[in-house]
Amino acid sequence: MSDRPDLPARPPFTLRARVLTPLDDGAVGHLPDACLEVDATGRLVAVEAWGARPADPSVLDLRPWVAMPGLVDLHVHLPQVPNAGLGAGMELLDWLDRYIFPLEQAYAREVAEVQAPLVFRALAAAGTTTISAYAALWPESTDACFAAAEEHGIRAVIGKVMMDRVTYDAQIARHDILDTSLRQSADLCERWHGADDGRLGYAFTPRFAVSCTEEMLAESARLAAYYGAWWQSHLAEDAGECDRVKRLFPESRDYLDVYERAGGLNDRAILAHAIHLSPSEVERLAASGARVAHCPASNLFLSSGLMPLARYLEAGIPVGLGSDLAAGPELSIFSVMRAAAVTARVLHLAGGEARPRLSPLDWLRLGTLAGARALGMGERIGSLEAGKEADLIVVDPVLTDPLPESEELTDPEELMSRLIFRPHPEMVRGAWVRGKLLPT
Ligand code: GUN
Ligand code: FE
Repeated sequence: MSDRPDLPARPPFTLRARVLTPLDDGAVGHLPDACLEVDATGRLVAVEAWGARPADPSVLDLRPWVAMPGLVDLHVHLPQVPNAGLGAGMELLDWLDRYIFPLEQAYAREVAEVQAPLVFRALAAAGTTTISAYAALWPESTDACFAAAEEHGIRAVIGKVMMDRVTYDAQIARHDILDTSLRQSADLCERWHGADDGRLGYAFTPRFAVSCTEEMLAESARLAAYYGAWWQSHLAEDAGECDRVKRLFPESRDYLDVYERAGGLNDRAILAHAIHLSPSEVERLAASGARVAHCPASNLFLSSGLMPLARYLEAGIPVGLGSDLAAGPELSIFSVMRAAAVTARVLHLAGGEARPRLSPLDWLRLGTLAGARALGMGERIGSLEAGKEADLIVVDPVLTDPLPESEELTDPEELMSRLIFRPHPEMVRGAWVRGKLLPT
């Protein structure tokens, strides 16, 4: 195991490391010995082969560590962490009632003030530098989540959950729920959307069609468009949920139509799961520009289903990866990549799909640049290329159990395969956003 050197806490700095990154042009960048230069504003000004330059004692040489773009988690629930790993195989709606709604109901400001900083540290320790997250129903604890993200340094889109149909809010009068939730969400958006020069953003967050009336869905979408904010929800995750939506929205032709009618679907919409869709829904989803957060670890944990990723990519739907903690039991996006690979293989073995063609380097792209693009942030982050903001991680590839790596894997695909299928819990040694080292 290599010792951990003192990593630079703030820009500017220059690192020497191996680099592995997807590139904007579709290729993969692999530099066994590279120079990574971050300027005072936290931007990458050079990512290039070390080449013939002389050894420089002022530059931290991290080799054999690998610098990669920070991982992007497109779908995570901040209040749910304490119950991660509980309720394997339960029906979604029962699992929400039993394990999730009580936890979120208790997510007061004081709870978030304690938990959110710990969750952000754990995310950074796992290599996640950007999240799109759900808080709970309460504006106070959502505000505390934002304050914790501001302080920690993680790049975060967060939203207060909105529910005006099936809800755990025991206090509020029925006729007040809609207006109150819209006002509270708009207030939070005004306070936090775009904060710290765009590091923090707001997502209007109607939980899913089961929890929301047509008005809630439509008004939240209208507010998201008004503020230029995101709009996030769940779509077609579980058979019981889909049946319920059919009954609640008899005038809609299918689940997607509920969100179409609400005006929610555009390139600022992030829909989690999207498993049980008809061919027509896949086509319309692609045409809408909406993004899908693929949450395979969650989908396996709750037996929700197998999302046909290859089909969606072929249809042109922008897809990124989500941990969906706590229905996903682990917050590491490396683990989510593994679950995605397993899902693709099971789909193939079950006869539904062609032999999976996605390689470990494709999973790296999905967990970084594709996620960044899904958030509309692909110009700024998602790959290690000059001109982008320095959201990056360093990974120790020698850290393997039970024996240390005896020889370095020089092939980038083999290296990525090992990190996905045999990860070490401490292999991520550092994570930066805009060149600022994140507490872990
Ligand atoms: N659908 C509606 N709410 C939730 C949630 O909290 N987790 C998951 N996995 N699915 C949901
Ligand atoms: Fe979820």
